[in-house]
Amino acid sequence: MEATITDNSRALPEGHIQGQPLTALAPMQDVTDQPFMTVISECGSPDYFFTEYFRVHTQSNLEKHILRSITENETRRPVFAQMIGEDAFHLKRTVKQLQQYPIAGIDLNMGCPAPRVYKKNVGGGLLRDPKKVDTLLGELRDSCPGLFTVKMRIGFEDTRHFDQLLELINKHSIDLLSLHGRTVKEMYRSLVHYDCIKHAVEVANCPTLANGDVTSAKRAQEILAYTGAAGVMVGRHAIRNPWIFQQIRDLESGHTTNRITLAEVNTYVKRLYEMVSKPWASEKARVSKMKKYLNFVGQGVDSDGAFLHQARRAQTKVELFSICDEYMLSSENQYFADEPYEGLVARPNCEK
Ligand SMILES: Cc1cc2nc3c(=O)[nH]c(=O)nc-3n(C[C@H](O)[C@H](O)[C@H](O)COP(=O)(O)O)c2cc1C
Repeated sequence: MEATITDNSRALPEGHIQGQPLTALAPMQDVTDQPFMTVISECGSPDYFFTEYFRVHTQSNLEKHILRSITENETRRPVFAQMIGEDAFHLKRTVKQLQQYPIAGIDLNMGCPAPRVYKKNVGGGLLRDPKKVDTLLGELRDSCPGLFTVKMRIGFEDTRHFDQLLELINKHSIDLLSLHGRTVKEMYRSLVHYDCIKHAVEVANCPTLANGDVTSAKRAQEILAYTGAAGVMVGRHAIRNPWIFQQIRDLESGHTTNRITLAEVNTYVKRLYEMVSKPWASEKARVSKMKKYLNFVGQGVDSDGAFLHQARRAQTKVELFSICDEYMLSSENQYFADEPYEGLVARPNCEK
């Protein structure tokens, strides 16, 4: 395949609206694939997309299903290719392969908290070893003529290396830092340390995207105001509310955001079913894949979680859709909650 990257400049791609904070869809394994990105873009794209991580090791090759989000990108927005690994030789080999495709840049995952991942000293495991991070960032920086970005957490079990890690971000001229304001050990549910994100914004020479519990456009504005970040990266709450990126732009432009009706959510759910589940998969597999998304969507449907309870038990498409219709179409202009209802937890809510 002919090399398609022509732009080796180190300027970040422009956002939708110049001067507004940047927005990005957080990479989520088994979620942010090409069809999901397309559905998100139909509701209002973020400025940037990131792929799920490409696993890098001695035998690795670019996973075809992840590559699709680059080669068949229909969002009209730039997509960064994320890698996870710890072997500089193979990471650089992968960078070379990825550079044959139309990517906005290369992103290194230094945050994945799954024990089976960090135990191999990759993802969040790297944060225990700043010396190793120094070597890896140095080698990768040299092999990336274009944008080289990092997504990380604030530390492994505490923030003892945080300042040193930020120094390395500067030393190796990283172009964009996406910072999830939790330690690896804090996984996904603790309070987010926005004070650490604010600190990173002050110290890092590159733009920082604030990540972690950006639950709504209003919350995004509060987090941006507090941290001074260049933008926000949204994960789980974009599964629940795919309109969030457009809502952030609306608020930033001084407009009120349109409230989303449950009827619109119903349309989104059905579109997701059509797009993200493989037509050749069994109905059981398709329904079970949908439940993964509904786990998040359900946090905004009804305050006592009855929708979630029933949807989790559906076995067939007809059953699932009739539960959706019952809760989302029963009366006109029922609104989807702007923030997730308290006490409703998506299970599972994290990467494996
Ligand atoms: C299901 C799931 C899969 C994830 N997969 C990845 C991944 O492949 N790469 C990565 O850097 N982070 C991954 N994350 C972490 C998210 O990108 C993000 O940092 C985290 O969910 C916090 O943001 P949120 O509160 O907006 O969801 C994943 C998170 C979830 C919930």
